[in-house]
Amino acid sequence: MSLKKSVTFLHSKNGIACLSSRASSWWSGVPMGPPDVILGVTEAFKRDNNPKKINLGVGAYRDDDGKPYVLPCVRKAEEKLRAKNLDHEYAPIGGTAEFCKHSIELALGEGSEVVQNGLNATIQGISGTGSLRVAAAFLNGFFPGNKVVYLPNPSWGNHTPLFKHSGLEVKSYRYYDPSTCGLDFAGALDDISKIPEKSIVLLHACAHNPTGVDPTKEQWAELSNLIKKKNLFPFFDMAYQGFATGSVDNDAFAVRHFIKEGHKIALCQSYAKNMGLYGQRAGAFSITADSKEESDRVMSQIKILIRALYSNPPLHGARIVTEILGDPQLRADWLKEVKGMADRIISVRTKLRDNLKKEGSIKSWEHITNQIGMFCFTGMNAQQVERLTKEFSIYLTKDGRISMAGVTSKNVEYLAHGIHQVTK
Ligand code: LMR
Repeated sequence: MSLKKSVTFLHSKNGIACLSSRASSWWSGVPMGPPDVILGVTEAFKRDNNPKKINLGVGAYRDDDGKPYVLPCVRKAEEKLRAKNLDHEYAPIGGTAEFCKHSIELALGEGSEVVQNGLNATIQGISGTGSLRVAAAFLNGFFPGNKVVYLPNPSWGNHTPLFKHSGLEVKSYRYYDPSTCGLDFAGALDDISKIPEKSIVLLHACAHNPTGVDPTKEQWAELSNLIKKKNLFPFFDMAYQGFATGSVDNDAFAVRHFIKEGHKIALCQSYAKNMGLYGQRAGAFSITADSKEESDRVMSQIKILIRALYSNPPLHGARIVTEILGDPQLRADWLKEVKGMADRIISVRTKLRDNLKKEGSIKSWEHITNQIGMFCFTGMNAQQVERLTKEFSIYLTKDGRISMAGVTSKNVEYLAHGIHQVTK
């Protein structure tokens, strides 16, 4: 064991002699890690003094003044919660039964037979990421097939590190076609058909991140057939329910279709985007099972994992969600407000495409309006992204993804100008 010898020496501080001892640090071997591919962009943005700077890195909704948006239904729910004068006791390990029931019903639809028959094991997770992490821990411990998760290429920047961290192996299937900035459906079918049976296939339920490219309903149906035929396990990440089309029911199509077709699924949900509860960390993880007895056993193991990871989830965000989904008026307000956010994003997509044309760009920017959800996968390469950041203080991830939620009617011209300058 070779910790360097500690050194004892005298020095004077404000004229007073001090005895110090210094050992070589425990952490001298820790290498500096790179900034996070997504959240690191915000850190760089904050250091920039250019008044024209724009942050299109992290997927966080902004109003048309570029300000964070607290949904009015969330404010109302908070007022109701204040009036209840609630205590701060521990939540149950898996979150409250009410929160979990609302969450799974939001995904599968009111009156879902799965829920009615107790076939779901649902827990509150720490937003989408925490839910995925618990899901990954459960699959790593109990999935009876290959402990390999197949991700679409590309996928959310945190999927690979998260799954690897939990011990699962990560592989990919073709998904995006750079030549059309659209879906490589034939490639996806071809790759998925070659995945060894009893493996895990991760599917973005809607508003694919980072590409904004989703399969059509017919394509989802084909994927469902193939995944069933190949005996693969579908694992849905649904972080953007409501953000793709403005309707939470439309956006749940894929999940509900797979359930209807008899698949057993894993599902992760997040309220970060659709309720704007980013920092409140409210989300859910569900596994559907063959029987109530089976889902109870699954639930018991998920609880054991959570207890060792973080004991039990935070209360406040989940209470807000429960108020909103449990109150018909607040729920109706919320559905309108989600649509409002989705519509604003759709309108700035058109503005960005039109402004690029106005700038004189002769490239095709149709994909900006064809893609859906929070992101646009612009097709810009790493050098172009670097120039956009260095010369225009426009911040985005290196893969050319922009968060459309950060584009406003006020910054869209400047953004189009910058994009044209680096792509012409
Ligand atoms: C994103 O992709 O920007 C969001 O999902 C936020 C995050 O945690 O990465």
